[in-house]
Amino acid sequence: MPNLKGVILHGGYGTKLRPLTHTGPKQLIPVANKPISQYVLEDLRSSGITEIAVLLGNVHPEKVKEHYGNGQRFGVEIQYIRQDEPKGIAHAVSLCREYVNNQPFIVYLGDNLLKGGIKNYVRAFQNSNHDAMVLLCEVKNPQRFGVAKFDQNGKLLQLIEKPKQPPSNYALTGIYFFRPVIFEMIKQLKPSWRGELEITEAIQLLLEKRYNVGYQIVQDWWKDTGTPEDILEANRLVLDALKPEIKGKIENDTSIQGRVAIGNNTLIKEKALIRGPAIIGENTKIEANVYVGPYTSIGNNCTIKRGEIENSIIMDNCTIDVNDRITDSLIAPHSKIISNNNTPHGKKFILGERTYVEL
Ligand code: DAU
Repeated sequence: MPNLKGVILHGGYGTKLRPLTHTGPKQLIPVANKPISQYVLEDLRSSGITEIAVLLGNVHPEKVKEHYGNGQRFGVEIQYIRQDEPKGIAHAVSLCREYVNNQPFIVYLGDNLLKGGIKNYVRAFQNSNHDAMVLLCEVKNPQRFGVAKFDQNGKLLQLIEKPKQPPSNYALTGIYFFRPVIFEMIKQLKPSWRGELEITEAIQLLLEKRYNVGYQIVQDWWKDTGTPEDILEANRLVLDALKPEIKGKIENDTSIQGRVAIGNNTLIKEKALIRGPAIIGENTKIEANVYVGPYTSIGNNCTIKRGEIENSIIMDNCTIDVNDRITDSLIAPHSKIISNNNTPHGKKFILGERTYVEL
């Protein structure tokens, strides 16, 4: 079988992640200091897929192009396809028809993370005669996803998008293997209750027309990163497998405990305590007596002057100087959080639209 092509969906509005998605697409939000969609791209590449289309939406698509360029830096060849509005995953897939050129292909949602990657599934699909293959994962909250229904023998009967009464706990992950017949099904779709062309319904049509739809059940963790809580959980899951690596400079009398990675030119000053799993990027300064607790990612060019940070993502170019503990937080690039001792009775904020503050 010829090599598969990959399609990464990088569109959508990311409303549940505002205000972070006012300034960039959700798929570029960093988890353990790497954009989520870069895990996707690297997974495709590790599975031998080097021809990749990135489908762009309206939320700062130029930032996606700036990061990935023509793909050379990542060892892949990227072509960009534009979706004018998020009219659904199936609509996005239909825009890739010319790109896939009558060959089998993989669609990977740019906000999905899969531990262990797709390599074995790629092989399974290539060695099969499936017209489509989906990856399913057992979840506690199937209502949030597309859900599979089986007969007693485990035969796939039906796929239902966000059912109120889920027929099983097996959710559709956002990783789909297709042959070009899927385009014929998409043509027959009508917008769903949420006004989108649903890929789940396109695969359901394949089932109804007795095409061969296969499935695999993923055993390790899979994460759809649609909400802030999901992003923090993904950060924890990725940091749990972090390779400890200290490149920056650590002064005497600091304490680095557990799995910790520290980037080039980063300085950890005396009496700071870094308790892993935690990652700190490049050119960052962690001043004396600061505490960085478990499940924290701090980006590049940050300064943490004072304070305690735990279970949080602090993105690039932030300054934190607080007499307090920051926890369960997502802090966008170029943010500044400081304690001002001169205004003891008030807090001062300059916040973007849809900011969330918990005091
Ligand atoms: O993550 C798995 C789930 O993804 C599946 O279980 C569902 O069956 C599937 O419909 C999808 O559900 P979501 O509600 O999570 O889809 P969402 O609208 O969040 O979009 C998923 C990704 O696709 C996201 O990275 C944005 C991108 N996208 C979405 C739409 C609607 C596009 O690029 N274009 C679009 O038009």
